[in-house]
Amino acid sequence: MSVYLGIDIGTSGTKTLAIRETGEILASATVEYPLYSPHPGWSEQDPEDWWKGSAESVRLVLQRGGISPEDVKGIGLSGQMHGSVFLDQDGKVIRRALLWNDQRTAQECAEIEERAGGREALIGMVANPALTGFTAPKILWLRNHEPQNYERVRQILLPKDYVRYRLTGEYASEVSDASGTLLLDVKARAWSKELLSKLEIDPELLPKVYESEEVSGTLTSAAAELLGLPAGVPVVGGGGDQAASAIGNGIVSRGTISATMGTSGVVFAHSDEVQIDAGGRIHTFCHAVRGKWHVMGCVLSAGGSFQWYRNQFGQAESSAAAAMGVDPYELLTKQAANAPAGSEGLFFLPYLTGERTPHADPNARGAWVGMSLRHGKSHFARSVMEGATFAMRDCLELIREMDIPVDQIRLSGGGARSQFWKQLQADIYGQEVVTINAEEGPAYGVALLAAAGTGAYQDVVEACNATISIVTETKACEKTQATYQQAYPIYQQLYRSLKNDYESIADFVANEGE
Ligand code: XUL
Repeated sequence: MSVYLGIDIGTSGTKTLAIRETGEILASATVEYPLYSPHPGWSEQDPEDWWKGSAESVRLVLQRGGISPEDVKGIGLSGQMHGSVFLDQDGKVIRRALLWNDQRTAQECAEIEERAGGREALIGMVANPALTGFTAPKILWLRNHEPQNYERVRQILLPKDYVRYRLTGEYASEVSDASGTLLLDVKARAWSKELLSKLEIDPELLPKVYESEEVSGTLTSAAAELLGLPAGVPVVGGGGDQAASAIGNGIVSRGTISATMGTSGVVFAHSDEVQIDAGGRIHTFCHAVRGKWHVMGCVLSAGGSFQWYRNQFGQAESSAAAAMGVDPYELLTKQAANAPAGSEGLFFLPYLTGERTPHADPNARGAWVGMSLRHGKSHFARSVMEGATFAMRDCLELIREMDIPVDQIRLSGGGARSQFWKQLQADIYGQEVVTINAEEGPAYGVALLAAAGTGAYQDVVEACNATISIVTETKACEKTQATYQQAYPIYQQLYRSLKNDYESIADFVANEGE
């Protein structure tokens, strides 16, 4: 028997999954670790925790699945994107890593744009604008704020690539995750010498870049001993969590789109060529499919808005659900279903943690607009679900505007688990949505990449076609779809109406108490 491991170094924990080449899941394990926020807007983790979490979750998976170590034929790595691990000349971590959701680098983003010769020139070099979460601004931040640490840096790695280094001793990355550093020439699938020179970053600090299914190294004997595996197991490139998750959803051909409603929401499309939104509103990254690309929009609080609603306003439903032994979301969703489509004019803007796509506005905030005496709890619950789904539609519209065909929308995450939310998505997106048999996200995607990269399949597209199938189809309801078609432009206008007020609120909060 051949077994493939997928390791996903997430923000809340590392999840490892073992599969057969048929896609059958043998076992999974998650090990959690802390996140540090030493100042408001800062978000850091200790790379040692990722390594320990990876090693422990691999051992647990082998044990839970009763897997013989000799059967493990390949390992794939995935992880939170954009994080920065700074290593010294001995390969030791210099300081805690800055994460994808760290917001400290606004000034460095401006510096990058200026050094690049403007936003347009920057997008021309690396396909994307500078966003606070990306890696390049973090490197400049270290140089500007901790020069004594910067001087010691000899290697900069992404989170999953640090785990690769501990597994194989190699400094290596792959194209999909490297795209999110803002230092990759996404079109050429290689580091951008031009931008590195403008930013005065030594290219020697960056690892070798592979395609996602290529073997990037093999397990060292020290790592093998710790994990309980034989030395020499190949480790393939893998992918950033979004590209890896897309592989897990089978998004490997033109026209297939995924809409994943987790805490954040991501709309992801495969693309055969590099397609760039001139406004930089949508990310253009290399895909984990060899020689292909993807575009992706990211809503920061999609499922997160509904979670916030449950925590703040759903105490009664949560207690009732606990007594009934059901999930609180089940009761809240039932409640939402009692309100009519469009929530009788109650609109919710889901910008609870600012927004990335399409507004890239850290000052944006959540809002309910349109309350009247008619509105009760069911309207509030429904409006939150509608608002989060309208935000996902914003991403979908950008993809449609780029002339990328949207033939099939595959749902995953929390939004794919309830029939009500599936129907809501079909009605708001204005077309049929489907779900698939695999629900395991990035770890599953990179386990498939490991299978493809070590010869079980010709390539990852063949691996996806052999293992992934459609299990449900939900058609849009004509009448409801028409209602949302009328409501959507109102939703879109509300951000434009409130944009200046958001700035005033940000100033007010910054100066409060002065
Ligand atoms: C992608 C992104 C997140 C992180 C954490 O651009 O910022 O998906 O990778 O999951």
